[in-house]
Amino acid sequence: MVYQIKDLVKKFGDNVVLNHINLEIKENEKIVIIGPSGGGKSTFLRCLNLLEKPTSGQIIYHGQELTEKTYKAIQGKIGMVFQNFQLFDNMTVIENITLAPILNKIMSKDEAYKKARSYLKQIHLEDKEKSYPADLSGGQRQRVAIIRTLIMEPSVILFDEPTSALDPEMIGEVLSLMMEVSKQNITMIVVTHELKFAYDYSTRVLFMDQGKIVEDGDKESVFKHPKTERLKQFLDNMK
Ligand SMILES: Nc1ncnc2c1ncn2[C@@H]1O[C@H](COP(=O)(O)OP(=O)(O)OP(=O)(O)O)[C@@H](O)[C@H]1O
Ligand SMILES: [Mg+2]
Repeated sequence: MVYQIKDLVKKFGDNVVLNHINLEIKENEKIVIIGPSGGGKSTFLRCLNLLEKPTSGQIIYHGQELTEKTYKAIQGKIGMVFQNFQLFDNMTVIENITLAPILNKIMSKDEAYKKARSYLKQIHLEDKEKSYPADLSGGQRQRVAIIRTLIMEPSVILFDEPTSALDPEMIGEVLSLMMEVSKQNITMIVVTHELKFAYDYSTRVLFMDQGKIVEDGDKESVFKHPKTERLKQFLDNMK
């Protein structure tokens, strides 16, 4: 089991953003989370790697409760890809990719550079290693951000709307890299509005609304046979 989430509650002041979530996530699941704005999707993802601290409840990762202390030991094993890339603008592409493995003493500089170059080659950006993020297109930046998580050999990658900030012509290149990654033995949890991608890629779909997981099932059942009026409406509005 990758995650066991037990009675997770997150409040911001009086605002209950995650409302008693219970969920188990198994190895190698490819999960998509859909749902209306403000429903708690980002907050939920951020709790899964302790970017947000739960108000109550437990997040158990590979049998161990995630706390600041246990999180340090697994640094890099839970990767995250953000809508706005979050690359360091003052570092080159290859410095961005190799920062974490070098800083955490997981690889020597030589090893990290070698590995980074082989990843860059795979996504046909080998000539960009000395470029700065500002000189890349949005799609290129997001693919670099994905590689930055992959170099740490994560067991889980959390994606929060990885294509929403991109021009339409760049969405495809990011989704196709994500499809490639999904063939590996990595658990992926993706918040996205790209329903076609969600359908092609996912093994499980969660519909979140008002801090709860309202539906949880395989793509056929969630997309084709929604059980709740809320999901039906949401899917109708996406058409
Ligand atoms: N740091 C914060 N401080 C206070 N309130 C917050 C914070 N982050 C999120 N919220 C609130 O929590 C609720 C859920 O937000 P969240 O960003 O998780 O929703 P979402 O489902 O990701 O929405 P979207 O589809 O628009 O990205 C919202 O009401 C939001 O205003
Ligand atoms: Mg969000």
